[in-house]
Amino acid sequence: MKRLLLALAIGMAMSAHADRVLQNVYARDVTSLNGTWQTIVDPIETGYYDYRMNETSNGFFRDQQPQSSYDHVEYDFCDAETLQVPGDWNIQRPELMFYEGTVWYKRTVPFHGDPSKPHYLYFAAVNYHADVYLNGEKLGTHEGGFTPFNFDVTGRLKDGDNTLIVRVNNTRHAEDVPTLISDWWNYGGITRDVLLVTTPKVSVDDYSIKLAPQKYNEIDLSVKLSQPLEGQRVTISIPELKINRQLVTDAQGEATATVKVKPQLWSPESPRLYDVTVACGDETLRDRIGFRHIAVEGKTIKLNGQPVFFRGISIHEEAPFEGKRVTTHAECDTLLQWAKDLNCNFVRLAHYPHSEYMVRRAEELGLMVWSEIPVYWTIDWENPATLANAQSQLRDNMDRDHNRCAIVVWSIANETPHKPARDQFLGALARQVKTADQERLLSMAMEITSETDEMAHIRDNMHQWVDIVSFNAYLGWYGGRPETCDIHNYDIPYDKPFFVSEFGAGAVAGLHGDATQKWTEEYQADLYARTLNMYNRQDGWAGCSPWILKDFRSPRRQNHQTQNFFNRKGLVSDRGQRKAAFAVLRDFYATK
Ligand code: GCU
Repeated sequence: MKRLLLALAIGMAMSAHADRVLQNVYARDVTSLNGTWQTIVDPIETGYYDYRMNETSNGFFRDQQPQSSYDHVEYDFCDAETLQVPGDWNIQRPELMFYEGTVWYKRTVPFHGDPSKPHYLYFAAVNYHADVYLNGEKLGTHEGGFTPFNFDVTGRLKDGDNTLIVRVNNTRHAEDVPTLISDWWNYGGITRDVLLVTTPKVSVDDYSIKLAPQKYNEIDLSVKLSQPLEGQRVTISIPELKINRQLVTDAQGEATATVKVKPQLWSPESPRLYDVTVACGDETLRDRIGFRHIAVEGKTIKLNGQPVFFRGISIHEEAPFEGKRVTTHAECDTLLQWAKDLNCNFVRLAHYPHSEYMVRRAEELGLMVWSEIPVYWTIDWENPATLANAQSQLRDNMDRDHNRCAIVVWSIANETPHKPARDQFLGALARQVKTADQERLLSMAMEITSETDEMAHIRDNMHQWVDIVSFNAYLGWYGGRPETCDIHNYDIPYDKPFFVSEFGAGAVAGLHGDATQKWTEEYQADLYARTLNMYNRQDGWAGCSPWILKDFRSPRRQNHQTQNFFNRKGLVSDRGQRKAAFAVLRDFYATK
């Protein structure tokens, strides 16, 4: 218990580095700070430490300019090379493809606003570690490459040009989340939007609009203001439901209400979203909200009370036609349209939270979402700071997306080792999910515990926590033959649905041959057909998200003939070529 309290204390301390994430930031008064930033590559942290490895007060964040011919300054942002924000640095400059270390980013932020109004600097994602400075003063730090964070800069912006400098470091560490190794490229940089947010003095920090638990004719509303002010009036309107409800806040600046109304439900077949406004004083936030229930009954998943089969595909946040981080809406649209072309109703956004737009677009397209934090492989389970980091990433992921009806699963881990320290670590995360959100399913990608040609056994203590038992299994690729699938079954002694969060095989697009020849499209297609038939025989099979939609960069895939630092398990190549297995999965899903 002491360790957990220490972890929670560290978690609180870490959260002090950045304020709680602003809900629905794009609906607010925002100024984009995207574009061309000046940069300095700093492989041995010259801009952060002195020669004795002490943090220097004269770092690059001071953006010093020589004032006289005697002044000694050995760095310069003015004529520095630039990088586009958002975007990973790896693909923007060939010499940075494998770079892991620090890059300093600088841009000027012109400001002529009302300094007394609240202002925030919002970063949608920076991989991995960010130190943020405004006019030479440190605002704080953030750990974690895939969740948003913001700093309150009220009263700290001067009239005219302000200097914003960010030290981004993507060096991997055993105690980080993810840890030292992962099967995806360590893309570094300011990889999503940067925004200057202005809010009224009293603003709606957060709100929740969803169906009342186990009800279809009641909607629960809740709001939380930026100040603990009593008696503030907040109006939530949903015109198409003839809702225009005024709430009055309590001494904590919070208010709740329940409205009797029967909305059209959101589903993949009918992804109905309602225009919603949340208004307080001179602030009106607009959102699009869907209403649905997801639940488990025995070995069946039910969406809006009806059995549902998750026809999924796994997706990394990599652009459809090249190996780089997704940075545009069009890239998200293409990836999700490919999922629709597969007859999917579900996407596993692996192995970390994707952009807010990706989730919102999935919602519009009628794709349910598995949202995951990168507690991946062999995490430093006994390190309280590591747990606090994972808790922060989980909190920020849920804070950002808790109004997104498309998210039906929160996933807290991928392929983690069975041992007491891991169970305790994941138990804390599971408790965090279950405390914050009883309206979604909890899961994680488990592993096969033992296996023969005839039978695979799943035994995982985390079964007590998860709502669906999910696991990754590569029979026919990382062991066994594809034909083994024909005689293979699964022993999963839990009265819960099971979901196959990964299976698959590598194939080089355009490489054809016999179905017994690995790396051919035929081998991949044959393995997909046999695997799908194998699971279709199993009791309690509730869906799958095969690995993976598209070939993606990985530092673990060095075979020159077939991989060249790409994981080739995509159903689509990194050039957009559809492989034979694409049609196998698509046609199977058409029967479910
Ligand atoms: C694992 C892991 C993936 C990885 C895949 C593979 O299951 O979860 O991140 O890419 O296997 O080996 O291709």
